[in-house]
Amino acid sequence: MERWIGKVALVTGASAGIGAAIVKKLVENGMEVVGCARNLKELNEIATKVNKAGPGHMYPYKCDLVDENQILAVFEYIKKQFGTIHICINNAAVCYHTPMVSADTEHLKEMINVNILALCITTREAITLMKNTNIDDGHIVNINGNAGHKIYFETFYSATKYAVTALTEGLRQELRAANSRIRATAISPGLVKTELMYRMHKDDSRSVDELYATKPSLQPDDVANAVSFAITSPSHMEINDMRIRPTGQLN
Ligand SMILES: NC(=O)c1ccc[n+]([C@@H]2O[C@H](COP(=O)([O-])OP(=O)(O)OC[C@H]3O[C@@H](n4cnc5c(N)ncnc54)[C@H](OP(=O)(O)O)[C@@H]3O)[C@@H](O)[C@H]2O)c1
Repeated sequence: MERWIGKVALVTGASAGIGAAIVKKLVENGMEVVGCARNLKELNEIATKVNKAGPGHMYPYKCDLVDENQILAVFEYIKKQFGTIHICINNAAVCYHTPMVSADTEHLKEMINVNILALCITTREAITLMKNTNIDDGHIVNINGNAGHKIYFETFYSATKYAVTALTEGLRQELRAANSRIRATAISPGLVKTELMYRMHKDDSRSVDELYATKPSLQPDDVANAVSFAITSPSHMEINDMRIRPTGQLN
């Protein structure tokens, strides 16, 4: 990770689960990390903890990713505070139970806004800032999921993750066509022990407890380690699509 010491990263969805683990990993390795999410209290608590350990720093930034203006404000902050960005990690996502025959339209819209549109906007802004500041070895990392490769779970959430598969590969092709050395990676974990499933089953946390008690799952740190592996690969090697599962998981 030496090449990233003192360099600037943005992590979306940094207030919980995988995003918080990625922030910790990057700060441990000396990066300056802007972590955004809606819950500023959680972000501040994480920042206090990771900044104490250092050697890098986390900068909490409150942002609701459904609002483009709030995303643009994050990038204004990054420009003012650091001048540039080197790594953008699109981690935030939401998942609702939305069967095709009965889905709540607002839930569908929120999943499109957070899981797809916000990822597109942050990617556009990050690459524009990299280009304007002559960063040609930056990295865009999208946290996808096994649901982005196979329909075995919520259909619409899967559709948003299939979009992440397409967007990451399309981005790779665009960057290649532009002779850029900026790299694009999607990491697709299987089941990870985080808040995602609890948020989805707000009224039935026992069923989620049971899921985690009976199915193998990854820890957020496992995904953070996968991110670290991807961003530390040598510059001649681009990891585009990483699938990771808890050993023994079926899908
Ligand atoms: N958990 C799994 O089994 C699993 C498996 C495969 C892939 N993934 C993927 O891993 C990534 C991280 O998920 P996780 O499991 O760590 O979920 P999580 O524990 O539920 O955390 C989700 C994060 O996204 C943020 N977020 C949600 N809506 C937001 C919004 N409108 N604006 C800003 N931030 C928002 C949340 O922060 P606030 O609520 O504070 O805004 C939180 O920090 C997601 O892309 C997910 O699809 C998860």
